[in-house]
Amino acid sequence: MTTNRWRGNRSLLAAVLAASTVLSVAGCAREGGSNGASKDSGVAHVVCGATEDWCAATTKKFSESTGVKADFVRLSSGEALARIKAGKGNAEFDVWYGGPADGYAAAGGEGLLEPYVSSNASVIPDKYKDPQGTWTGVYVGALGFCSNSELLAERGIEVPDSWEDLLVPKLAKDIGIAHPSTSGTAYTALWTQVQLAGGDEAKALDYMRKLHPNVLQYTKSGSAPGQMTARGEVAVGIIFAHDCVATMEAGFPGLKVSFPAEGTGYETGGVALVTNAKNPTSARKFIDWALTTEAQEIGPTVKAYQFPTNPNAKVSEKVVPLAGIKMVEYDAVAAGKAKSALNKRFDTEVAQAPKS
Ligand code: G6P
Repeated sequence: MTTNRWRGNRSLLAAVLAASTVLSVAGCAREGGSNGASKDSGVAHVVCGATEDWCAATTKKFSESTGVKADFVRLSSGEALARIKAGKGNAEFDVWYGGPADGYAAAGGEGLLEPYVSSNASVIPDKYKDPQGTWTGVYVGALGFCSNSELLAERGIEVPDSWEDLLVPKLAKDIGIAHPSTSGTAYTALWTQVQLAGGDEAKALDYMRKLHPNVLQYTKSGSAPGQMTARGEVAVGIIFAHDCVATMEAGFPGLKVSFPAEGTGYETGGVALVTNAKNPTSARKFIDWALTTEAQEIGPTVKAYQFPTNPNAKVSEKVVPLAGIKMVEYDAVAAGKAKSALNKRFDTEVAQAPKS
């Protein structure tokens, strides 16, 4: 299935490039105490897994709407988890926002997140919430293929619509995907293979090993292969469909989104409170606000076209409709439990994680 109706020709691709950046919004952060609400300094320090632009727009709007300051660092899912872990005992961040929920489930399993059920969470469907209250979903997005159709035509192959299509020798070193140890997007791809193999992790790794000769590079960030595809470095990127749409919008309308007929995975982007946050009151306010329609309608203003989890939020016409896509069963809690060990196997059996 090919979808090519999300087009645009605005600003430069650079606008969607995500690198680790600190942006201070509405003032500088002050030091908080070691624990407890009484020491809250009125700033929510956010580790943000959404796109840089979305992280910036969200923290800014949060401050404007609530009067509570916020700053953020953009990190891919695996990096965010590692940084939260490194800050155990002296938390660097108060709240984790964005990025697939399996990362949150893995962090919750290690006691790195503190359950918090916002009163605003009642409107969010149960399928987008952790049953233990450790994280709440703020957006949903499907994994897909993002193709450079000109390159595919040169190689004489059709836009892929099956996982098997990606294994053809004609695509040698012509596929971009991130590494699951750093990227939640890539872990979604890996867990999707586990689901397609009926839960058999060895078979899933087998598929990834077969794909390996066709992979030019395992990037750190999940959306980066979209830009590689746009620049013509690879013919196909395995990324979230909304990141391909964003890349089209950023000046590459010729890209094509397609989905594998066998089924694809999806993410529930999360939000959660970090254990022993130095600013827990500000963090809870951020979480409360992140579930509102106001927060969930920001995405499309910065080319982030995920589906909102709040059923009352307006859905942009550029949001990739999830209804027509064949999805695998994707249990973020089970995926989170398996994450650390499965990524270790990927490191040793398929490819090492990219060096920073
Ligand atoms: C992009 C997508 C998000 C996704 C995130 C995961 O920002 O727009 O929907 O949650 O990537 O990032 P990662 O780098 O961990 O794959």
